[in-house]
Amino acid sequence: MLDLTDIRGTLRAHYDLEPSLALAEAMSDIHARMGRVMPMVDWAIHAPYVRAINELKRQRNAVVLAHNYMTPQIYHGISDVVGDSLHLAIKATEVEADVIVQCGVHFMAETSKILNPQKTVLMPDMEAGCSLAESITAEGIAQMRARYPGAPVVSYVNTTAEVKAASDICCTSANAVQIVSAMESDTVIMTPDKWLAQNVALKVPHKRVVWWDGACIVHEQFTAQDLRDFRDWNPGLKIIAHPECPPEVVAEADYAGSTANIQDWVTAEQPKQVMLVTECSMASNISDANPEVEFLGPCNMCPYMQKITLEKVLWSLHSMTGVVEVNPGVAEPARRAVQRMIDLSRRLAG
Ligand code: 13P
Ligand code: SF4
Repeated sequence: MLDLTDIRGTLRAHYDLEPSLALAEAMSDIHARMGRVMPMVDWAIHAPYVRAINELKRQRNAVVLAHNYMTPQIYHGISDVVGDSLHLAIKATEVEADVIVQCGVHFMAETSKILNPQKTVLMPDMEAGCSLAESITAEGIAQMRARYPGAPVVSYVNTTAEVKAASDICCTSANAVQIVSAMESDTVIMTPDKWLAQNVALKVPHKRVVWWDGACIVHEQFTAQDLRDFRDWNPGLKIIAHPECPPEVVAEADYAGSTANIQDWVTAEQPKQVMLVTECSMASNISDANPEVEFLGPCNMCPYMQKITLEKVLWSLHSMTGVVEVNPGVAEPARRAVQRMIDLSRRLAG
């Protein structure tokens, strides 16, 4: 567990982290990307951290890979690459810098390390986990293989390196339908997200999809009734869901897709009012790029993603702590499963 009192003292001794409206004004080009969701007084608190991190990134030859669920000050302030899990995994294969700072959750940092064993991968808070990744172990994969002999195992990237290593191929929410469809076997095992698996099963009726009993603690909170209520209260509202939601929730939505697919849909369709049935930071991060769109709906936050803060990013880069290691005996088979996904995804995309 990080000792934040200690960390704060050390950071303040090395960097000027006092809130500053003058600095906030001087860095207004960055603030302009999130002005709709961040008052200038809040930016005055974040700007000194953003300045310090961006300077340290240069000194350490580091890049920040950030998931779409990061806070706006991370997403717009310090990131070199932003995106969904698939995009981040692909971009991780192309990093030339010496250090990768993963702003996301632990399985994403492990994926970056698996794809870049020679690089230093930093995780600003090792406790940023994921309810899906925690729901299954390699032993669970062995149980599924024993129950469905010969069936290939397609594991969501939201899994540990050990689980990836025990799987045939990975998938993300952006490519799960295509990956499962491309499997030769009639029966396909999907782990660990039962809701993603059931949403995929509806799209590939020619396959028998069987699943593990895991779920995302953020997306399983939404109900179909919530969506119907929001539509009743806001006629004309468009509703976009993430496929980690239960199928009856996805059925009420106008469109479902990965976080990057959601962003693309909003950018292309420009709905007057939209509700993103996913983690709440997503809407904040794309709000300024879509000034004509009003974002409505409840704010469900992922407690794991929200563990990543500017302060912890600065600390990990300053102290070079939070180094992610993956045992090479696990990393190699895990890399094969991730690389198969990337290669198949590219081939299927033509
Ligand atoms: P995406 O791959 O759609 O970004 O989803 C990752 C995730 O953790 C969603 O909860
Ligand atoms: Fe895991 Fe859900 Fe958080 Fe995504 S939103 S990291 S799936 S717990």
